[in-house]
Amino acid sequence: TSLARFVDALPIPSVAHAESQRTHPAYPGRKLSYHRMEMRECKISLHRDIPGTRLWGYNGQFPGPTIEARRGEPLLVEWINALPSKHFLPIDHSLHGAEHDKPEVRAITHVHGARVSAKNDGFPEDWYTPGHSTLYHYPNGQDAATLWYHDHAMGITRLNIYAGLFGAYIVRDDEEQALNLPSGDCDIPLMLCDRLVAQDGQLYYPVSDDPAAPWVMQCNGNLVLCNGKVFPYFDVEPRRYRFRLINTANTRFFDLSLSHDQPLQQIASDQGLLPVPLQRARIELYPAERADVVIDFSAFAGKAVQLRHQAEGILEFRVRDHGRRDSSTLPAALRGVPRIDPQSAVQNRILTLNETDDANGNAMTMLLDGKRWSDPVTEKPRQNSIETWSFVNLTGDAHPIHLHLVRFQILDRRPFDLFAWNAQRKLLFTGPAQPPEPQELGWKDTVRADPGMVTRIAMRFEGEPGRYVWHCHLLEHEDNEMMRPFDLLPAHS
Ligand code: C2O
Ligand code: CU
Repeated sequence: TSLARFVDALPIPSVAHAESQRTHPAYPGRKLSYHRMEMRECKISLHRDIPGTRLWGYNGQFPGPTIEARRGEPLLVEWINALPSKHFLPIDHSLHGAEHDKPEVRAITHVHGARVSAKNDGFPEDWYTPGHSTLYHYPNGQDAATLWYHDHAMGITRLNIYAGLFGAYIVRDDEEQALNLPSGDCDIPLMLCDRLVAQDGQLYYPVSDDPAAPWVMQCNGNLVLCNGKVFPYFDVEPRRYRFRLINTANTRFFDLSLSHDQPLQQIASDQGLLPVPLQRARIELYPAERADVVIDFSAFAGKAVQLRHQAEGILEFRVRDHGRRDSSTLPAALRGVPRIDPQSAVQNRILTLNETDDANGNAMTMLLDGKRWSDPVTEKPRQNSIETWSFVNLTGDAHPIHLHLVRFQILDRRPFDLFAWNAQRKLLFTGPAQPPEPQELGWKDTVRADPGMVTRIAMRFEGEPGRYVWHCHLLEHEDNEMMRPFDLLPAHS
């Protein structure tokens, strides 16, 4: 595009401040920080030369305020729906959960990657309409990690998130703090997404040519947004910074690198620290995946360094020396990630990723294990048990698969014979299992399931019994049947 580059400062979302300290029956005898997060319509400047854009934001901000949590310190959030009663993006009423008898504007917030009970997890059917709210409690009984919150309303999640309903949720803990990584104003969440922005500054969401079924399989924008700005700049000092990269896009994957052949030091993935920092020339992030990186600008005083997506600079760092000294460190070892032994699994589930086509070969729906959302629940792990899940990808695309509640490890990816599967539902491998890449050796909650491959993960189902969901995090797929409930059953007593 012809938009001027690097004329707006990178926005750093404000930190959500606790309105008060309150008690909650789930935590007798404790006072918890209470936050109010109000979803409302707002007008935001995406760029100096783009007219103000209508968006939906939490507390009128896009991205929403950053929620700061500490491990073991529960907190309360009242999620308030103060949105208008009409949606400004095209709803497809033929999708399950978005039928004409449902209100147009519905919302329910999920904290992606949080270990939280089913009642507080933002189940897609627990949506509510403008004028209503829900009070959720988050135990934060989990390792330090970069999480994020976003809307999850049945059948319109892709539209609500596209409208702007997301923000960062950071869990910190003492062990991580003891590592002395860059902190404070040198520890920055960086949410990346893309949008189709029209000349008049307004968001455009693509539609099919069938007005009765406007759903499209994917939505890629014409502009990349960094914390809600197009081509921003960020003034940094010649020292180390930590950036928490979060892919909040509907469909796009990011292929990130720095100019000047500068490497990125990746220190964490979805669910927290990696065993050791990894020097990366490029980082690929699929929707919902996170990568925390340390960038050292000390050799660049007086210069500019760009963060690129593919060949395009999307964010410019301007390195200015203010004489502050850098006392942070990047230790050689970060946090151990003990491997789960797949032999200890009590269940090994084989689950397909499918696409059904119409007579013209156009994709109609995307399915998990050939089932729809409303089919009976088939995945019923037992509390505290270990399982492996193998995703057999029968489609031509990669899908980022996400499970609520649990963190998992990637075991391997292995090519298989699609014809043998289609003919007799037989899993015939055509090559050796490929181990996870080094950056995939940490705890994950979203995994890229490649086409033509069986992607295998292992997890222990810690958490409270109840109904959760797993789904593809390409939001168009998620909204059109590529999402399934799962039931966590109580442990055998
Ligand atoms: Cu990021 Cu079910 O969600
Ligand atoms: Cu998908």
